[in-house]
Amino acid sequence: MDTVVSGIRPTGNLHLGNYFGALRNFIKMQNENNCYFFIADYHSLTTHPTPADLHGNVKSVLIDYLAAGLNPEKATLYLQSDLPETAELYLFLNMNAYLGELERVTSFKDKARTQPDNINAGLLTYPTLMAADIIIHRAHKVPVGKDQEQHLEMTRTFANRFNRLYNVEYFPEPVAYNFGEELVKIPGLDGSTKMGKSEGEGNAIFLNDDAEVIRKKIMRAVTDSGPTQPNQPKSQPIENIFALMKALSKPETLAFFEEEYNNCRVRYGDMKKQLAEDVIAFTQPFRDKIKEIGSDDNYLQKVVKLGRDKAHESASKTIREVREIIGFKPF
Ligand code: TYM
Repeated sequence: MDTVVSGIRPTGNLHLGNYFGALRNFIKMQNENNCYFFIADYHSLTTHPTPADLHGNVKSVLIDYLAAGLNPEKATLYLQSDLPETAELYLFLNMNAYLGELERVTSFKDKARTQPDNINAGLLTYPTLMAADIIIHRAHKVPVGKDQEQHLEMTRTFANRFNRLYNVEYFPEPVAYNFGEELVKIPGLDGSTKMGKSEGEGNAIFLNDDAEVIRKKIMRAVTDSGPTQPNQPKSQPIENIFALMKALSKPETLAFFEEEYNNCRVRYGDMKKQLAEDVIAFTQPFRDKIKEIGSDDNYLQKVVKLGRDKAHESASKTIREVREIIGFKPF
C-alpha cells in the first residue's frame, strides 16, 4: 500500500484551485492508501500572520477538509505544528541543503520579489521544510497542483542525498501525483494563469463564497472583445473561463460554448451566467457542510487529537531511525 502525504497552507478558506489541484485527490486517495493530510501552519509563518489570523485560518482549512469529504477515520488529518518531529527532520535536511540550489527555486525568487522587506530564512528553506513534511512518513505519492512540481523535485533531491550520504536506502523517492494525468493549474478570474489567495481581489472563488458573491466575481471576470474569425485562438482570460467550465460544468455545456466561440457567436455574458450557476451548484454541498461542521468545536477537537496521535506514531518511528542512521546512538 502506498503512503500518501500532502498539505495546504492555512491562508483562509480554500479556493477552487486548492480543490482541483489537491483536495479532490486527497478525497479520492484516502480509501486505498495510507494517507497523511495536514495543515501547513509552520509554512504560513513565512508571511508573518497575526496569532488570531493564524488560528482562524487553521480552523477554516480544517473545516474545509472535513466539509469536502476527508474522513479522519480513514486518513490521518493533522496540524503540521502538532508534529515537532517534522521540525527536527527539517533541521537535519538543512545541513545538506545548499544556498545556491535554494536560491534558484522559483517560489523563492517570486516571494523575494513580492515581499522584499521580508526575505527570511524560512522562505529560503521552504523546500526543505516541505521535504521534511513528505519524507517524515516516507511517502511515495504527493497529490499537488502544478505549481508544486519544483518543490517535489527538491524533495527527491534531499531524500536521495540523505540516502547517498549515509549509504542507506531509507527514503523512497516521492512523486507529485494526479492519477496518471498532468498536474493541474486552475486559472484566476482576473485573466492571470493561476487562481490564488494572494493574487488579488476577485481572482479566486472560495469554497465558502455564497451564491451572490460567486455571481458577482464571475460576472466581473476579465474577457476580451470576442472572436472575429472562426476558430480563432483564445486570449488568456477567455482560455481561463473555458478552463473553469471544463473543470466543473457538464461536457455538453462546454461543447456548446466551444462551438459558439468557434463560430464567433459567443456571448460572454451568457457564458459567465452559465458558469456562475454551475459553480454555485458545484459548491453548494461544501457551503452546507461548512456551516454544519463549523459550529461543532467538540468534533473539531476530536479530529485534531486523533490526527495528532496517528501522525506522531509514524513520525516518531522515522525520527528514531533517522537519528540512528546519522549517528545519534543511545548510550
Ligand atoms: P498551497 O497552500 O499554496 O496550495 C495547496 C495546494 O493547492 C494547490 N493549488 C492549486 N492547484 C491548481 N491550481 C491552482 N490555482 C492552485 N492553487 C493552489 C497547490 O498546488 C497545492 O497542492 N507548499 C505547499 C504546502 C505544503 C505541502 C507540503 C504540499 C507544505 N508542505 C508537503 C505537499 C506536501 C503550498 O504552499 O501549497
